[in-house]
Amino acid sequence: MSTPRIHPDTIEEVKQRADIYDIVSERVVLKRQGKDFAGLCPFHEEKSPSFTVSTSKQMYYCFGCGAGGNAIKFLMELDKSSFADVVLDLARRYQVPVKTESPEQRQELQEKLSLREQLYEILAIATSFYQHALNQSQGVEALEYLTEKRRLSTETIQQFQLGYAPKGWEMLYDYLVEQKHFSVHLVEQAGLILPRKKGNGYYDRFRDRLMIPIHDIQGRVIGFGGRTLSDEQPKYLNSPETELFDKGKTLFGLDKAKTAISQQDKAVVVEGYFDVIALHAAGINNVVAALGTALSLTQVRQLLRYTESKQIILNFDADQAGTKAAERAIGEIETLAYQGRVQLRILNLPEGKDADEFLYSSSAENYQNLLENAPLWIDWQINQMLVNRDLTKVVEAQEIAQSMVKLLHKIESEVQRSQYIQSCAGILSQGEARLVPFLVKTLQKQLQKLRRRDEFKAEESSNIELPVLTERNLLEQAEALLLRIYLHCSESRQAVLDALESGNLQFSFSHHRLLWRQILEIEENSPNDIESIDLVSKLQDHLLEFPEDQQQIDHLLYLDDKAMANLGRTPLQIRAAIASMELALCRKRRSLALHMWQNTDRSENPELWKMYHEEFVGANRRIQELEPQRHTNFQDLATVPVGEIERSRLEKAYHQQL
Ligand code: UTP
Ligand code: MN
Repeated sequence: MSTPRIHPDTIEEVKQRADIYDIVSERVVLKRQGKDFAGLCPFHEEKSPSFTVSTSKQMYYCFGCGAGGNAIKFLMELDKSSFADVVLDLARRYQVPVKTESPEQRQELQEKLSLREQLYEILAIATSFYQHALNQSQGVEALEYLTEKRRLSTETIQQFQLGYAPKGWEMLYDYLVEQKHFSVHLVEQAGLILPRKKGNGYYDRFRDRLMIPIHDIQGRVIGFGGRTLSDEQPKYLNSPETELFDKGKTLFGLDKAKTAISQQDKAVVVEGYFDVIALHAAGINNVVAALGTALSLTQVRQLLRYTESKQIILNFDADQAGTKAAERAIGEIETLAYQGRVQLRILNLPEGKDADEFLYSSSAENYQNLLENAPLWIDWQINQMLVNRDLTKVVEAQEIAQSMVKLLHKIESEVQRSQYIQSCAGILSQGEARLVPFLVKTLQKQLQKLRRRDEFKAEESSNIELPVLTERNLLEQAEALLLRIYLHCSESRQAVLDALESGNLQFSFSHHRLLWRQILEIEENSPNDIESIDLVSKLQDHLLEFPEDQQQIDHLLYLDDKAMANLGRTPLQIRAAIASMELALCRKRRSLALHMWQNTDRSENPELWKMYHEEFVGANRRIQELEPQRHTNFQDLATVPVGEIERSRLEKAYHQQL
């Protein structure tokens, strides 16, 4: 739908009425600072507030990331909405009559305006319908379930607008469509009815279920969770994704929890609807739930807006599903957590209970206590590594140490990392205090290795792009051939080294670079001259550290006899391979020179212009020279992996016979 042009008068009036403080403070916790307000910027992650709101200028500005603008811009950026959508939303909210530039567009505008608006209305009416049914005779069983089994008070039932979807196939349908005259199409779009599979007509999605409305941050109903009162599956039936309802972006209870979250400066995330309800009923109000899915980054970001010190506690079931959920949730926010940008704690309640069950037999104070003492997620993860493991068994201890190293490696703060190195060493020592310093050193050494590997990888990815596919194949084969020669024809090593050095050439492929680095490392640490080092056997130990790369390297280490025999013509092969590598380098040089040349203004910078031009011409000339060298000498020998050379030779002989 093309967006109608809104009349400038309307835009102006919206701007007049929409107060920047009103709008921003709904989304960001603002504190007064002189005559302005300050808070944590919603547009980037930060620990101390650099986001300011000026009511006199009706502007926001972030000193951290430079985001700034008026109320309309704020909503556009935050909600990723169009200008027109934001203006229309605000117009509705501040009751500004909307004029369009042309009368024909009014109809279209009205439709656009009304879709979401009408869906909200339908859902609100459905909510009252279900609430009403709960208090009729048909709802007795459901009400009893809430008050007896769940021990909820009337206030809580009302606060959460809990209801009952009656038995029968067309109860809500009749009410909304027949009595209230809403269009069937809209009610379907609200996710409340479904078309019958056979014949015409529609039926209610929710039947004989306890209804739990799901609200958006502003408290409008956008969907429902419906719990069965019997053993029917699924236990919870939820609204489908609709124009209003996006599971991954919604947190159940956030509308009721947001104030408490910002007051207590921390948010608790539980698994179930009833965990939220029970905790709120017990006076613990900073609690929300993800909707049966893993916690998404979007949801975490929503929470972080309300807590200044970025504290989130995940209280998931201690059963396997819950542990998985916690791990998945961590996966989503792990980067934030490793950087220390969110303080994440994990609470597992005793006896594998969920919060709701816990409160039946225990008190809110006990729950609060457990919350306060919930382990930081890194500690929790370390504990998880030990579950069902036996440290006294050497193999298991080694595996655990391995996972510890991986975890430690991700912690960005050095202080925090060294604290955890200590505590991991403590765990691994199993109480043998004199072992701790040794274990600390071991862990540190392992970490160093990982870090070196990362640096190496980073170095690689900063390289300019490699040649196109076929060129890439040729180049890869050339490099592989050189490495094979180096590894297996020790008398040619010096020749390869010289050739690489004189051309100032490097390996382009990451696994080749990795192998080359290992080779150089071995040679550096060896007292022998390079011809007499048994590289292949030494490399096997070295490469154990790089299991992911090993597969790509292995075929260079092991040669069958035929392939070995084919390495006989090495001087020629070295020349061809080196030509291939130099060719790749020249291509890079040429494209860079061309790019610079084209982007240099001749009249402004004649010298530079000339230099790039010469570089281009030079590289081009060299490419012309190299091209035939590679083709004549190299292609015959090594465009196929060395092991296959024999076959290609036979094929050629065969063709010649024909
Ligand atoms: P649980 O199965 O852990 O149940 O689901 P619960 O919340 O403890 O339920 P009660 O106490 O037996 O009523 C956790 C959450 O996962 C989602 C719901 O959001 C539920 O609250 N869920 C679960 C579904 O969406 N559908 C299901 O069938 C089950
Ligand atoms: Mn439960």
